[in-house]
Amino acid sequence: MPLRWRLALLFALVAAVLISGVAVLFRHQLTIGMNSSLDDGLRARADAQVTRLASATPPPPSPPGAHEEQGAESHDSGSDDVAQVLALTGQVLQSSGDSRQPLASGARLQDAAREPEKFTTVIEGQQYRMLAVPARAAGRPAVVVVGTSTQIVEATAARTGKIFLTAGPPAVALVGFGAYLLAGAALRPVERLRRRLADISEHDLDARLRVPSTRDEIATLARTMNAVLDRLARALARERGFVADAGHELRTPLTTLKAELELARQPGRSREALASAVAAAAEDTDRLIRLAEDLLLLARADEGHAFLRPRRIAPHEILAAAVRSASTRAASHQVTLRLDSDEGLHLVADPDRLRQAVDNLLNNALRHSPPGGVIDVGLGHRGRSGRAVAVIEVRDHGPGFPPDLLPAVFERFRRADTARSRADGGTGLGLAIVRSIAHAHGGRVVADNPPGGGARVRLELPLPPAPSRRRDAP
Ligand SMILES: Nc1ncnc2c1ncn2[C@@H]1O[C@H](COP(=O)(O)OP(=O)(O)OP(=O)(O)O)[C@@H](O)[C@H]1O
Ligand SMILES: [Mg+2]
Repeated sequence: MPLRWRLALLFALVAAVLISGVAVLFRHQLTIGMNSSLDDGLRARADAQVTRLASATPPPPSPPGAHEEQGAESHDSGSDDVAQVLALTGQVLQSSGDSRQPLASGARLQDAAREPEKFTTVIEGQQYRMLAVPARAAGRPAVVVVGTSTQIVEATAARTGKIFLTAGPPAVALVGFGAYLLAGAALRPVERLRRRLADISEHDLDARLRVPSTRDEIATLARTMNAVLDRLARALARERGFVADAGHELRTPLTTLKAELELARQPGRSREALASAVAAAAEDTDRLIRLAEDLLLLARADEGHAFLRPRRIAPHEILAAAVRSASTRAASHQVTLRLDSDEGLHLVADPDRLRQAVDNLLNNALRHSPPGGVIDVGLGHRGRSGRAVAVIEVRDHGPGFPPDLLPAVFERFRRADTARSRADGGTGLGLAIVRSIAHAHGGRVVADNPPGGGARVRLELPLPPAPSRRRDAP
């Protein structure tokens, strides 16, 4: 059911409950008020009778048809009133009407002889409100009973109920209709926002919602939606750039591969030429496989997939293995690798991914180290318990990061133009992968050109609360 209808029904329901409540309360209060005023009248009449009896005023002349002992009726205000003077035996001494039937008897009469007694009774099918008070008649204890019909109270209460019953439903309907109109007015800007949002397509990256100048919830909603659209547009642009770059990167090795295969296919090629063409093709295929794996890892990291298999590890062992396997290549470049690490440090991480990150850093350092250069690899920790991090540092003594590249060096496919043109130039995904791995572990990575030259990359990974740590960061 639309929100507008729900609000209208809710308001109507609340109005119905309120009006019913008010009606019941009003009727109740009205009855109480009228009864109390009847009681006041009864008391005044009873007092007058008692005073009259006490002063032994002779009874006024009986109206025609009245009982001989009558005399009370001259003090009664209307035909709905009754009055009697009763002896304690129940004998009717005086009565306002013909009835010889006492208006009170038995225990009630005895009680009324001691203190005033209120009660209701039915006379000739009509409800009466009664008051019996002690009195003295001709020197003997007696009871004066006065009563008045409650017909007017009942009639008024019934009339009030009828008024509420007649006016209530239209009032409820009116409230519901008002709520329907109001809800419609309040929701109109939301509907406008929805329509505009529905019109925005994925090709319309710059489209935004118009923020009303009302400074209300609608304006906040529009601003929030615009912020979401901004983020989505940025993500989409990044995604498109990534796909375009990936396509571009894939095309180069594929083109070379195709050229090599075309060349090998030509007739009259020597065995050696064929072997070298196949070797070159295999190298290109390796490069393609590496690129595909890198892209896959980044895509999985983007999707937020749990691509880690973390366990408790000693990062020293990973660093030592990475340095060992890079040492042959380092030696061929006359580069020295130095490892200085805290062997007692443990952390929870995915060993394969951590090794991949370290390999990427070592590859970069080897690629940029001059012959005779030194690459320092270190492992330590910093920060206090709870926020402590393990720090893996790789530093070379080459030219350092190009300053204009440094702020964006962790972005995908970012590399210096010289790297692009070099035969051994990478694809520009190595550091992006290091960053994805760091983030997936809840850590971070920073790159800089430290004083003294060269390039330095620090990979910081959070340590478990109470690890065994022995030294500070390198
Ligand atoms: N140690 C370093 N010294 C100087 N420049 C570096 C160093 N490491 C990386 N760079 C620069 O940063 C760029 C990005 O590095 P990254 O590792 O992301 O990509 P790549 O090495 O070019 O390719 P890939 O790692 O994917 O094979 C490099 O192209 C290079 O220009
Ligand atoms: Mg690299």
